[in-house]
Amino acid sequence: MGNTYDVIMDRRTTHFYTEQEVPEELLMRALEAAIRAPNHKLTNPWRFIRVGKETRPKVTELGVNLKCGDEAPEAHRQRVYKKLSGPAELIVVVQALDENEMRRKEDYASVACAIQNMSLVLWEEGVGSKWSTGKVTRHEQTYEMCGVDPETEEIVGFIWMGYPLQTGKSPRKPLEEVYRQLP
Ligand SMILES: Cc1cc2nc3c(=O)[nH]c(=O)nc-3n(C[C@H](O)[C@H](O)[C@H](O)COP(=O)(O)O)c2cc1C
Repeated sequence: MGNTYDVIMDRRTTHFYTEQEVPEELLMRALEAAIRAPNHKLTNPWRFIRVGKETRPKVTELGVNLKCGDEAPEAHRQRVYKKLSGPAELIVVVQALDENEMRRKEDYASVACAIQNMSLVLWEEGVGSKWSTGKVTRHEQTYEMCGVDPETEEIVGFIWMGYPLQTGKSPRKPLEEVYRQLP
């Protein structure tokens, strides 16, 4: 690949990963691209927290507990554990919260662009990613484990990364349905 349009059209969220590590250099390249996202007033609202090998099992454990509850059979818990620990890397993307509501909204837009930049750079090098949100990204224990202060920062998502085991499809409404032209 190498053409921006092709990378955008080809990228898909990756749900299943091989065990292969993501090269550190590529990860840093993707993050350098992330912070080049458009950003009104240059607020630099993004923070990226790479979850290391000691912290990861703790995050995974919490994820499994939140997804499965107390009642789930052990086999199901194991499956969820395997899925959550599958991606080679987990980056927690955080937004520094501005006091002004409008600025916060615009900052969120910048952080979203940063995530897309990152995922496109990774994809171009054959690395898949998934942006996820849910109980675990909102849980106070996650904030604590990741050193995120909920008073001043918000977790925008978990970005899972790794080499894809398989790649799915993701249909979109045709452009004509979402496009209007004014005279
Ligand atoms: C804000 C946001 C939150 C998302 N959360 C999840 C999630 O929790 N679980 C998941 O499987 N995918 C999640 N996704 C990924 C979307 O499901 C995915 O982008 C969509 O299905 C389109 O597929 P594509 O990325 O392959 O084009 C999220 C995407 C965004 C932008």
